[in-house]
Amino acid sequence: KNIVILISGGGSNMAAIVDAARRDNWQDLYGARVAAVISNRADAQGLQFAQAQGIATETLDHKAFASRDAFDAALMEVIDRFDAPDAPVLVVLAGFMRILTPGFVAHYAGRLVNIHPSLLPAFPGLNTHQRALDAGCQVAGATVHQVTAELDHGATLAQAVVPVLPGDTAATLAARVLSQEHLLYPRAIAELLSKK
Ligand code: GRF
Repeated sequence: KNIVILISGGGSNMAAIVDAARRDNWQDLYGARVAAVISNRADAQGLQFAQAQGIATETLDHKAFASRDAFDAALMEVIDRFDAPDAPVLVVLAGFMRILTPGFVAHYAGRLVNIHPSLLPAFPGLNTHQRALDAGCQVAGATVHQVTAELDHGATLAQAVVPVLPGDTAATLAARVLSQEHLLYPRAIAELLSKK
């Protein structure tokens, strides 16, 4: 498998996946490697990390495209450069802050996953941590799921739960969840690779 990771910013989940792939030797175990990291923002910090690891990087600025369809078509073309009969792509969304078109999602059906910082089906969309606090939730967490055309839906692959603690702010809760995401996402991907 050629894993292609899409990011928009910090890329800490991407880095966790890259680290796990090397540490746990996904190449020998699953014939899988992180082949490319693609960002829709040139200033995404994660790009530097990926480059330093010798991973191919691409920036595709969505603002340079007239429509969502045009952007997604260009994105598909870049991703499919890493798609080979003996090494099909697995597309991993890691903090990729763009909504994908149904055409894109259909093209990668069954090989497109995302991590979302809530216990889906609770709190799809943005501002998940503040919404969990406002709702008085006592636990929060993250969900790795298959991507379908509907935002933050699709079959759940794995979840991690953290407590909400007295005095939590959206920032402290986000940090607690994110540290679990870094364990959860590589584990969920490894499990997916082991099944294929
Ligand atoms: C993570 O919390 C992820 O679940 C959400 O955005 C954040 C991205 O962080 N979609 P990073 O770019 O992986 O550091």
